[in-house]
Amino acid sequence: MGTVRTDDIDTAFDDEGSGPAIVLLHGYPFNRSMWREQIDALKEQYRLIAPDLRGLGESTSGGEIATMDQMARDVAALLDQLQIQRAVICGLSMGGYVAFEFCHLFPERVEGLVLAGTRAPADNDQEKQTREQQAARMLAQGMDGIATETLPKLLATETLATRPEVANRVRQMIDTTRPSAAAAAQLGMAARRDYSADLENIEASTLIIVGREDKIRPVTDAELMHSRIPNARLKIIEDAAHVSNLDQPEVFNRILLGFLTGAQSPSPE
Ligand code: MLT
Repeated sequence: MGTVRTDDIDTAFDDEGSGPAIVLLHGYPFNRSMWREQIDALKEQYRLIAPDLRGLGESTSGGEIATMDQMARDVAALLDQLQIQRAVICGLSMGGYVAFEFCHLFPERVEGLVLAGTRAPADNDQEKQTREQQAARMLAQGMDGIATETLPKLLATETLATRPEVANRVRQMIDTTRPSAAAAAQLGMAARRDYSADLENIEASTLIIVGREDKIRPVTDAELMHSRIPNARLKIIEDAAHVSNLDQPEVFNRILLGFLTGAQSPSPE
């Protein structure tokens, strides 16, 4: 692990393994530790770079709003410092929004794209308002209430019932997030662009992953991306919800590895 100065913040990151580079972008309000199973499974063959996105995990904050654009630029600055020109960019949920921005800003740096549990459209007015209310609530009351309400939606029924250690891990990621940083990310997500028009311009081979039980970013969101991105394949993971890489790490890793080994010549499904 390391920390580098990227623009106005310090970005903490893991950098493990060697081989073609893969950047893993976590969701909200999580941190890079959510990728541990992917890093461990792939590091013999690949170089895995997992940053804490601005304000989250061990990275420092830049202000009251953390936009997806800023986060994508932080990732590019990190890759510059690591002297990595091109990488497969893999983002889950908020990490997917950052991946969209990265593709838009730096298409020549994208070797392949993985979009998990995310969606292209922007928020509607109601969703923006909810984010603003949540941001205010976190600043006033901390993360506890949000964690209790969100946890049941993040993981699959089976995981919640039988693997308390996974639920505890997710809960801990949320509980240890600084409220000010979570609020900044919420406001950044509320302000994000609509990425729908970007979809048909994505040239990179793309893998779309969604958990069958994901109620936050359901299968229909994944199908829309799949129908518009020219060179995309879609994989639906059973017994997985929003954080599908933690619900079903082995299945997620197998799908990811299958894509990476065939990333140069994908056959859309
Ligand atoms: C996430 O998991 O990153 C969030 O659910 C994204 C969002 O709130 O849109």
